[in-house]
Amino acid sequence: MTANFPATASFSGYNAPSRVEADIFDLVVEGELPAAIRGTWYRMTPDPQYPPMLGDDVYISGDGMISSFRFENGHVDYKSRYVRTERFLAERAARRGLFGAYRNPFTDDPAVAGVDRTVANTSPIFHAGRLFAIKEDGLPYEVHPETLETIGRCDWGGALRSQTVSAHCRVDPLTGELLLYGYEASGDGSRDMAYATVGADGVLRDEQWFEAPYAGMVHDFAITADYLVFPIFPTIVELDRLKAGGPHWMSDIAQDCWVGVVPRRGDVRDMRWFRRPGGQAFHVINAWNEGGKILLDLCVSETNSFPFIADVSGDPYDPRRAATIPSRWTIDLTRNGDGIEERVFGSLPGDVPRIDDRLIGRRYRQSWMGMVDPGRAFRPSGPVGAGFNMVGRLDADTGETDAWYGSDEESFQEPQFVPTGPGEGEGYVLSVIERHDVQLSDVGVFRAGAMAAGPIARIQLPLRLRGAVHGCWVAMG
Ligand SMILES: [Fe+2]
Repeated sequence: MTANFPATASFSGYNAPSRVEADIFDLVVEGELPAAIRGTWYRMTPDPQYPPMLGDDVYISGDGMISSFRFENGHVDYKSRYVRTERFLAERAARRGLFGAYRNPFTDDPAVAGVDRTVANTSPIFHAGRLFAIKEDGLPYEVHPETLETIGRCDWGGALRSQTVSAHCRVDPLTGELLLYGYEASGDGSRDMAYATVGADGVLRDEQWFEAPYAGMVHDFAITADYLVFPIFPTIVELDRLKAGGPHWMSDIAQDCWVGVVPRRGDVRDMRWFRRPGGQAFHVINAWNEGGKILLDLCVSETNSFPFIADVSGDPYDPRRAATIPSRWTIDLTRNGDGIEERVFGSLPGDVPRIDDRLIGRRYRQSWMGMVDPGRAFRPSGPVGAGFNMVGRLDADTGETDAWYGSDEESFQEPQFVPTGPGEGEGYVLSVIERHDVQLSDVGVFRAGAMAAGPIARIQLPLRLRGAVHGCWVAMG
């Protein structure tokens, strides 16, 4: 390779590209790995195959690398493979980068005009026996759940009309349905959004379309037993800016956030819109409906959390205002009006929240997430440039935090709850521990109800696991 990766935040230190496709049988475990953990943990990581064509790029533009940790009888095996997207194959054939700026096709090498740009690098979603690698700017790529070999792009047999599917689709744990949506559904800069249901039988049904108040980022959404909930934030794309070679996103917090609510088994014409003053959230913790109200928990910041997304006001990036705080938004469907009641319940900044997935869309109490102690050391890693220096549990009823700070040389990736008992939170939590002093990684295994006690086992990797975005757990049948 003639070009080198740049010495920039997205490509150096812990964020240096790894590009390792590996099979490691029987990882070394320090401590006692509970035999009750039986199943596979999938993770998606951006990991650029080639140096960026334009000299630098954002972290989340890296090619999708899917990895699996397979747990059985107290043993764990690791596997990682690149997702063979059209984009990956085009660059591999050319042996160099061919795609330009993040989500801006007008900056690409003309040789790849019309080639699917998605890198499928954000979330693994498992549904109806199929595993998908998804990034919100394109369609999912299906990957074999055991070999991790790429099967191909998925539009559910031609049934899906949307050009995009969010990486934050949700599987309803009670019905087995996959609820999916896409934004910029008819192309870059469009206000069109689409949603659909894939039944437990794997058949896609009921695709419906609507127009968002503006072409904003809709990174995540929520389901409840009876509703779909679309929170839309004023991080906005403009087609003319793209055509001029500018960035896909700019934040404009002078505009309101909007929340669209539509009955799950109704018609899109029944959608109602609610609003609050501007701000930003990437991730929903959970939501449910009761007594004519929707309770929506999410990690909310004053400004966009990504340093690479500039504010239209020209204000410089302020980590304090970009910090995400767990908050509850209550929407009263029995009243007229479009207001949202808001209450902060987290005491520390936190993000990449996960719950006991058996309670998705239902009343819940516990979540696990990467957390930040602002008074302690940070290590550079991941898309925001500062790794989470704690991993912990938050009790939504009491606001109590149960979190672990490892050492000044460690940071943490998105936790994964693994159920091993019937009650909420009965089980373990897995989280990659980034070891900055040796540039290697462990997987910490925590008792889900005793995070502050630290890991009861560490699964040691002989390599560095670049910061993943999201993961999912598939229990062994
Ligand atoms: Fe996300």
